[in-house]
Amino acid sequence: MSSIVAPSILSADFGNLAKDISMLNSSNADWIHIDVMDGNYVPNISFGMPVIDYIDSLSNKPLDIHLMISKPERYIERFLDYNTKVLTVHLEASKHLHRTIEEIKSRGVMAGVAINPHTDVNHLSEIIKDVDLVCLMSVNPGFSGQKFIENSFSKVKKLKNLILTKKSKCEIQVDGGVNIKNAKELVKNGAEILVAGNYIFKSNNPHEKINLLKKI
Ligand code: DX5
Ligand code: ZN
Repeated sequence: MSSIVAPSILSADFGNLAKDISMLNSSNADWIHIDVMDGNYVPNISFGMPVIDYIDSLSNKPLDIHLMISKPERYIERFLDYNTKVLTVHLEASKHLHRTIEEIKSRGVMAGVAINPHTDVNHLSEIIKDVDLVCLMSVNPGFSGQKFIENSFSKVKKLKNLILTKKSKCEIQVDGGVNIKNAKELVKNGAEILVAGNYIFKSNNPHEKINLLKKI
């Protein structure tokens, strides 16, 4: 079985996005990971709708949209208008998480919940059967190119156990500082979807990096 790979566009060259999207279109990447940051929930602002409109229009891959914004329920409708495969909101940023998840699923899109490095996976226990994906943050959200937090290895295991215990069909995504060195153990522990930014875009051979992650 091979992993699902979602390159994070935040590490792309924004001076020539078309080139990087064309590189992804001809690659074996499965989804394009879109990091939306509002400067409130996280200490950084990334990009908004005009940029995502452009990415969506050029991409032949579905979008995996990761909302790092406060009160994400305000914008669910808008983000579902794209060729969206997954729409992920943060557990810590959502007041009525169950309602938001149901809204996403009602439009036939996978509903994801992201949790920060300090959040115990047990906080997901009452929602795990309802979500399609958990995005386990292996860095503090806000920036690409950060160092992978080692505690994430055991957290993936804990999350996998919770999923099995609760008989959930939810898939595990790991996001932040992922590379070929840590990806093997992540997959061994139960991760199915790998997000990678710097590891792919800062390489001289992004296709090769994508293939290496896919083969795990
Ligand atoms: C962090 C973002 C990540 C990040 C991944 O806030 O959610 O998706 O862009 O980039 P790397 O792989 O460089 O850590
Ligand atoms: Zn992300």
